[in-house]
Amino acid sequence: MKIDLTHMPRGLRLLQDPSLNKGTAFTEAERDALGLRGLLPPHVQTLDEQVQRFLVNQRKRSTTLERYIDLASLQDRNETIYYRVVTEYIEEMMPLIYTPTVGQACQQFGQIFRRSHGMYLSEKDRGNIANVLNNWPRRDIRVIVITDGERILGLGDLGANGMGIPIGKLALYTACAGIHPTQCLPIMLDVGTNNKTLLADPLYLGLHQPRITGERYDALVEEFITAVTQAFPKALIQFEDFANHNAFRYLYKYRDNVRMFNDDIQGTASVALAGIYSALRITGGQLRDQRFLFFGAGEAGTGVGELMVSALTAEGLSEADARKACWFIDSKGLVVTSRTDLNEQKRNFAQDQPQMKETLEIIQAFKPTALIGASGQPGTFTPQILEATARCAERPIVFALSNPTSKAECTAEQAYCCTGGKAVFASGSPFDPVEFGGQRFVPGQGNNAYIFPGVGLGILATGSRLVPEEMFLTAARTLADCVTEYDLEQGRIYPSLTRIREVSRTIAVAVARVALERGLATEPVADDLEAGIEELMYKPRYISYV
Ligand code: NAI
Repeated sequence: MKIDLTHMPRGLRLLQDPSLNKGTAFTEAERDALGLRGLLPPHVQTLDEQVQRFLVNQRKRSTTLERYIDLASLQDRNETIYYRVVTEYIEEMMPLIYTPTVGQACQQFGQIFRRSHGMYLSEKDRGNIANVLNNWPRRDIRVIVITDGERILGLGDLGANGMGIPIGKLALYTACAGIHPTQCLPIMLDVGTNNKTLLADPLYLGLHQPRITGERYDALVEEFITAVTQAFPKALIQFEDFANHNAFRYLYKYRDNVRMFNDDIQGTASVALAGIYSALRITGGQLRDQRFLFFGAGEAGTGVGELMVSALTAEGLSEADARKACWFIDSKGLVVTSRTDLNEQKRNFAQDQPQMKETLEIIQAFKPTALIGASGQPGTFTPQILEATARCAERPIVFALSNPTSKAECTAEQAYCCTGGKAVFASGSPFDPVEFGGQRFVPGQGNNAYIFPGVGLGILATGSRLVPEEMFLTAARTLADCVTEYDLEQGRIYPSLTRIREVSRTIAVAVARVALERGLATEPVADDLEAGIEELMYKPRYISYV
């Protein structure tokens, strides 16, 4: 393909533009045409050689945080190499650009900061957000991930340091679903932080002030939503790592009018439900016969619960019976109707049961077939709890979804060992395979990255005006259908990450169909939806400039 060179940056400016830069891969002809002669070493390399050079060096690093920094610098230098590396080596790179390493990167964001990436909007921009958004050099933005940094993974309030999360998630949109990197925009909405360590840290890069709350906070979010939907009318807005008290409110406030969703609530729900569907292919039961005991009744936990209720009612259960199949334990104990401290999300799952303080007593009474951990509290699935659950179910399903790894409710090894190898296990952050009783178990990773990139691509392909709940139910079923018998034989309830692009495309097609059937599409779509969507997917390779 020949491109118009009139507006092409030349020389050093070209080398400094990560989306155009080819570095040592600029051909002889390009070096002549674009004023690069003398600015690069003479040997012309291929993209594959550049990838290998990066990997050889990066793998010598002694810590994963150093590898994260290498990757971030590469992303700022040359997006093509970066996405080739991340796409081709996704199993190796995902834990670096996302959980668990991204958690560490966020904790030390101020120290490892090199170059700004994405946009920072803050209290200082109140009344001026529309103008600030115009500073972004690109107009055709299709996916925005925004956080206010108040609940970063299970690590709590990290303020502006939370920017690592939108950056990482958008890298996954590109790597997993081929959303073009120039169409992605990470945004940090800095409203202060209540993290005293950060406030006292001179290297902290966010506003050194406590969080604004209440009406002032809501007004800022409202201003953002108004401005962003005007500046980038085709963008999908993903809310990420907002604290519980804001996450649900904004989801309910905006989802009927704005092309938005909350990944912690809806993405987690979808990936967990998919895991349950696949786990049932191993355990042999029906969804309607399961009893789910949730640890953690927050965004992730009740999000999963609500989608589970939708799935159960779709199988013919009454809503009341579906809710009776989902018991929740939070920091105060079992969620029951006699409690007066429950928010709306918890009240929806309050059981008409006596309060029971001891978890073992709850297990005795409820006889769960599945434990779903989304408490952010490590070790909550104690050996006794795992053993007791294994007495209630032939093959107990154990999901320790809390991130990062240090917050998981139990390790993979604990899940397998304490249940005599009977558990079907998945976690939020990756665990290595476990040898137990002469068998090898491959833990599943209930990673939202199986869901949101495909959902985003389906929305991009159709221009869906909204993101209805049905899309997450559909995505869950589609993801479960992608799991092969071979995966299940190894105890793996999610497809191998090496198939993530194919999986995302399949989910995108299913989501696009929902948009079309619901009359939500605003863009013309190809007759062959699958081929049309494949065509849209960015592939990291160089194009010829001359
Ligand atoms: P949240 O703050 O909304 O909810 C936490 C819940 O845990 C609250 O209901 C709290 O009462 C409860 N809790 C605290 N201590 C407990 C204990 N000892 N036993 C039982 N419950 C307890 O937080 P959110 O957003 O729901 O996140 C929770 C965890 O889930 C985090 O670690 C987060 O990283 C993880 N998560 C994982 C995802 C994934 O793997 N795909 C996606 C989203 C969140």
